[in-house]
Amino acid sequence: MDYRVLLVESDRLLLERMAQVVNDTPGFTLVAKFQSVSDALGQGTVFQPNLVLLDIEQPGGMGLIAEFRKIYSEAAILCMGEKWQAERASQSIKSGAKGYIIKPFTGMELQEAVETFSRLGSDAGAETLVFFSPKGKSGKTTLLANLAMALARKVREPVGIIDADLQFGDMAVFFNLAPHTTIVEAVRDVKFLSPASLSSYYMSVAPNVRVLCGTPTPNMVDRIAIDRLEQLVSMSRSMFRYLLIDVPAGFNPTSIAMAENANTTFLVSMINGAYEIEHMKQALTVFRDWENVEERAKVIFTRVEPCDARSKMELSQKLGYPVTEIIPNEYVIVSDAADKGKMATDIRPDSSLSRQVDRLADNIIGRHHRIRWDRS
Ligand SMILES: Nc1ncnc2c1ncn2[C@@H]1O[C@H](COP(=O)(O)OP(=O)(O)OP(=O)(O)O)[C@@H](O)[C@H]1O
Ligand SMILES: [Mg+2]
Repeated sequence: MDYRVLLVESDRLLLERMAQVVNDTPGFTLVAKFQSVSDALGQGTVFQPNLVLLDIEQPGGMGLIAEFRKIYSEAAILCMGEKWQAERASQSIKSGAKGYIIKPFTGMELQEAVETFSRLGSDAGAETLVFFSPKGKSGKTTLLANLAMALARKVREPVGIIDADLQFGDMAVFFNLAPHTTIVEAVRDVKFLSPASLSSYYMSVAPNVRVLCGTPTPNMVDRIAIDRLEQLVSMSRSMFRYLLIDVPAGFNPTSIAMAENANTTFLVSMINGAYEIEHMKQALTVFRDWENVEERAKVIFTRVEPCDARSKMELSQKLGYPVTEIIPNEYVIVSDAADKGKMATDIRPDSSLSRQVDRLADNIIGRHHRIRWDRS
């Protein structure tokens, strides 16, 4: 699709500079440019733009979105600001803009911004899925990585992974990566980044799957401030269709903050014949304070034998809470995959593990289309 761009920017020099960039970017044509908002509202419609680039760092800023939407009902509105502000970006989307871009932008950033909003339709951003475990060694990292692949394969849209298991993040090992940048640098730089520049901190691991790796050594955990981490998540949401976040086991500031901001938190525990049900019950007492807890907190048990409907029902009964999915005991496949630096579901797509991961992916996707969760 070709974009017919109307550019509104109060600073004359910036206006000229960005007009040039728009014209130089393939797929974009500048049809009009205005320094004054009232001129743009009064005179611009004759040019029939389908994309309005609107400077909102001027008097009346945010309120202008509604006015432009009224007059330019056929056009997408992309807001421009001088630096990335997560709150402002999300507020502008709530007011009806399609995105927020930092000015002055490059042609590539403009293209990425437009691609992001067309990909996400009218959605405000990625659905965020957090993987929490009451205790360590729950199988959550294995599940998350395989699920991310399954989601990307099914929806053919970008899926992001953030390894926020700050002390012992093992996503890099899992995917066999030697990351050039990690969550430490991303959090350090987040104030100066835009979604387009943050994208290069992630590493691509499969078509449509990108990973932001964890801290290289446990003592780096001191360098991660929770509010910055939240900003990072918020910005990442504008880049993906699904964002999967691995958090440290147990209740700690990171896992709590991430869970509270997520669309869904998966509580994952591995059956070892010990106290998993009790631990899960205790963990659920914390989550039960949430409104719509059953919508937001989903329980998954891994290493379940036999992995069938009856086991799932029995686990739900013992727990007194619906179990969303069970993952079979597939130690051989999982460790074979780990040795090869591959995903279990890739090397054995016919396994029961792959089937269960697929079902979970279908549930996540289906739920978005307002199909009820399968609680069988
Ligand atoms: N479905 C499964 N069946 C059998 N073994 C599994 C399964 N999933 C994972 N494992 C094994 O259990 C161990 C822990 O898995 P994983 O690292 O995914 O869990 P985790 O909860 O992320 O652990 P950590 O607390 O170390 O982050 C690994 O050795 C893995 O190979
Ligand atoms: Mg882990």
